[in-house]
Amino acid sequence: MKNEYIVDDNLNVLRQIKGCSVDFVYIDPPFGKNRDFDDFDDRWNDIPLFVNEFLHPRIKEVHRILSRKGSVCVHCDISASHYIKVMMDSVFGYNKLINEIIWKTGGNSKTKKKMYKSHDTILAYSKTAEYTFNPIYKPYGEEYFKKNNPKMCEIRNEYYSSCAIHNSQPEVVKRPNLRYEWNGHFKQWLVSEEKMKYLHKDNRLTYSKTGIPRIKRYLNEMEGVPITDVWLDISTIQNGEKLDYATQKPIKLVERIISMFSNEGDLVLDCFAGSGTTGIAAIRTRRNFTLIDKNIKGKKIFDKRFRETKGKIVVKNTKKKKVDKVSAFFQAKPRSIIKKKG
Ligand SMILES: C[S@@+](CC[C@H](N)C(=O)[O-])C[C@H]1O[C@@H](n2cnc3c(N)ncnc32)[C@H](O)[C@@H]1O
Repeated sequence: MKNEYIVDDNLNVLRQIKGCSVDFVYIDPPFGKNRDFDDFDDRWNDIPLFVNEFLHPRIKEVHRILSRKGSVCVHCDISASHYIKVMMDSVFGYNKLINEIIWKTGGNSKTKKKMYKSHDTILAYSKTAEYTFNPIYKPYGEEYFKKNNPKMCEIRNEYYSSCAIHNSQPEVVKRPNLRYEWNGHFKQWLVSEEKMKYLHKDNRLTYSKTGIPRIKRYLNEMEGVPITDVWLDISTIQNGEKLDYATQKPIKLVERIISMFSNEGDLVLDCFAGSGTTGIAAIRTRRNFTLIDKNIKGKKIFDKRFRETKGKIVVKNTKKKKVDKVSAFFQAKPRSIIKKKG
């Protein structure tokens, strides 16, 4: 089942998978839009029934097969996200919600009676508190410089931003051991006097006109600006990427999700796989995959994508970019994730 695309009803397949054997699940199920998309039917008599009778048993299986460090991202939109979130809380526990990601999709609407819908929602839940999470940082760009106005340190020749190193409400959180005089100012500081001396000596303090210190944060020592849960920078599927499969998702989006919630070599599963975007994103980020969808058209598209991707994988983090031998990657004997019979 590892590195395979299985054509079947996903509930049948999920039930055959061993517990705790999958590291990350991304699903992009029907949204409950009451439309027939040709490639799949998204007509339901009732949204709560769609969530509770169709999605719920599948999510219960997803929870069972996830490893201790595992998590799931459920892609949905305003049509059913409110019901899905409550259902996810009931299966995973409300305290296992990691993030509600808002992905700006661009949008249009024919009605003048409401605003354009221009985002999808991606709900991330973990199985335990020890889930895998790799934050993503963006380089400090023009926007960061405009907002934070970093200064140049003449001694180190590096940009830094600064923040307060004293408590602005010392009476609310009293820390008498952190109260001392520094540079003529008696305050409740955020660090001990000893640490303050070290920071001063290491040129990590900057002083206001009145002599109040602030701590310097050198940009070259920080990883960049961590991305937030509002994603405006990934556009919807563009012409060059379109594969004639309804509601296909952009590879860039799924790659980002997989990179954040799993590690290289992990097993990523998508049981509403469609054209197999998750499989291609997994290959490109050096993960294993299991794809399931009941529509054979999805597998046909994926098989073609897979053949085209095989020759093009670029190993990340090498100085000289080189083409990886995908065959070697897949030759490693996959651990079985199928339950033993009996
Ligand atoms: C929104 S599409 C997924 C698109 C996919 N993310 C992509 O990028 O191509 C939803 C998919 O769920 C599949 N599906 C719906 N019900 C299913 C079921 N019971 N078992 C397996 N697949 C199902 C449909 O065939 C459809 O391909």
